[in-house]
Amino acid sequence: MQTIAVMTSGGDAPGMNTCLRAVVRTAIHKGVRIVGIRRAYQGMIEGDFVALDAQSVSGILNRGGTILKAGRSEEFLTKEGQRRAVEQLKKAGIEGIVCIGGDGSFRGAIALERDWDVPVVGVPGTIDNDLYGTDHTIGYATAIQTAMEAIDKIRDTAASHDYLFIVEVMGRHAGFIAEAVGFACGAEAILTPESPTDLPALHAMLDYARERGKKSCIVVVAEGDDAGNAFEIQRKLNLEPEHHVRVTVLGHIQRGGSPSAFDRILAGRLGYAAVHALLEGRRNVMAGIVADRVVFTPLEEAVSRRKESPARLLEIAAVLAT
Ligand code: F6P
Repeated sequence: MQTIAVMTSGGDAPGMNTCLRAVVRTAIHKGVRIVGIRRAYQGMIEGDFVALDAQSVSGILNRGGTILKAGRSEEFLTKEGQRRAVEQLKKAGIEGIVCIGGDGSFRGAIALERDWDVPVVGVPGTIDNDLYGTDHTIGYATAIQTAMEAIDKIRDTAASHDYLFIVEVMGRHAGFIAEAVGFACGAEAILTPESPTDLPALHAMLDYARERGKKSCIVVVAEGDDAGNAFEIQRKLNLEPEHHVRVTVLGHIQRGGSPSAFDRILAGRLGYAAVHALLEGRRNVMAGIVADRVVFTPLEEAVSRRKESPARLLEIAAVLAT
């Protein structure tokens, strides 16, 4: 391959820039021309490409967000959108792509390979950590640190005022963030989309905690929980006024900020591995790290197989928070 491209797609995640830098510098090291696709699939359709050199990625290793911009494209979901995108790739001489993103981005990559014969290597870049074939996705470690620090502050107020906080963290389809952050903050309850939420049982548990003298509680809920979002859960629980319920939605604060050391190392290793894989002829795979080794998983598996939480954090948290 003479020319490859790199894109950051889906929701931004801390470490995307770090990975971008690794991809660009590895490609240059291998003597390959590297092009950035701005605004992900929408930019691909519109031919929004930028030539990248070693200098263009200097000073971004520790910066949150993505200098290429991220995003989701409705148009790319259509055959016509894909046709236009592939036409642009051909025009620019792009022979392969490193796609840094989450499950939605990888579904686009699968279509590119299957229907249009464009080789893609994926790199897991999402705060959600919900991709099979990697222990961690880029951005997850930073996001849970950010959320944990925010909930620690909320805990101060909860304890000072005897409030019960319902704190919503991100995760439309996955509870990895809720689980890890709830555990790290000692939340009294952790609600995730993967485990059915029993609201009457939660109500009873919170009442009982109060009777036992626990005057403040934290309930961490993933935004995609089966019982609803934090406000819906507050309404459905309908707790007695003495619980002094407050709701906080942490929202996009979890997506920003300088990547942690862990995310920088992960991003650098995966970006480097992805370029090598692409140039060695691998396609339609995601580069991930399992037990500290780089492994490649077919993109179809990465998006469709269920990733289990290996540590049974919910179970342990339930014991530790009593
Ligand atoms: O996939 C990352 C993520 O932050 C999810 O946790 C969240 O549900 C979603 O993106 C929100 O995306 P946006 O606000 O960009 O539409």
